[in-house]
Amino acid sequence: MRAHQQHLMDHLLPKLTLDPASLGSMPLTRFPPGLTQLRLEVGFGGGEHLAHEARLHPHIAFIGCEPFANGVARLLVDIDAGQLTNVRIYPDDAGAIIDALPAACLAGVDVLFPDPWPKRRQQQRRFISDARLIALARVMQQGASLRFATDIDDYAAWTLARIARSPHFLWRATRADDWRQPWPEWPGTRYEAKAKAAGRPSVWLVFERNAVPATSIA
Ligand SMILES: C[S@@+](CC[C@H](N)C(=O)[O-])C[C@H]1O[C@@H](n2cnc3c(N)ncnc32)[C@H](O)[C@@H]1O
Repeated sequence: MRAHQQHLMDHLLPKLTLDPASLGSMPLTRFPPGLTQLRLEVGFGGGEHLAHEARLHPHIAFIGCEPFANGVARLLVDIDAGQLTNVRIYPDDAGAIIDALPAACLAGVDVLFPDPWPKRRQQQRRFISDARLIALARVMQQGASLRFATDIDDYAAWTLARIARSPHFLWRATRADDWRQPWPEWPGTRYEAKAKAAGRPSVWLVFERNAVPATSIA
């Protein structure tokens, strides 16, 4: 880690870090006034997508979760350079933030190139699971988008199977282009670039939180 990154880790990160235990019922109060929506990015890696979104949507509040310290340091460089005041960070497992958020507070969730865990015996470690979709359904508003990208065919099929049996999410794709093309304004990510260089095409899936209340879960 370069000296500038270490400086930001020591001095900027503490100001931007969210503590799940004290998140409270109004997470937007952890941001400057005037922000109207809250979105979450899980596993932001080097943070290039999160910084891009924060620059593009200055009226939206973003929470980014990433346990990889070098990735957090890279995002801090972008936050500092761009004076992005609408980003807060949880430098650890996103599950803790999801569990701590109040119901129906998120207007969107991005899970971009999550760790693939390709071996069968490791697949239970994948971020997307039936239980995780239930946890996400609780904190997402009706109509909110869950955006998922992967370069691993098997992970795309895994996720689609869990969405199909979830009572809380819809997949509205109608044409192959809906999943072969990223959504508008996609800036690319470090991991996507690696996949492309290795000849692995990516899949982009956008799911919608439907109107079924999370409390109806058996
Ligand atoms: C394959 S990388 C992709 C990073 C980035 N999204 C990209 O597209 O370049 C997956 C990232 O997810 C992070 N990660 C894994 N499990 C996580 C979790 N439970 N909560 C938050 N981040 C997680 C890893 O540390 C890693 O940086």
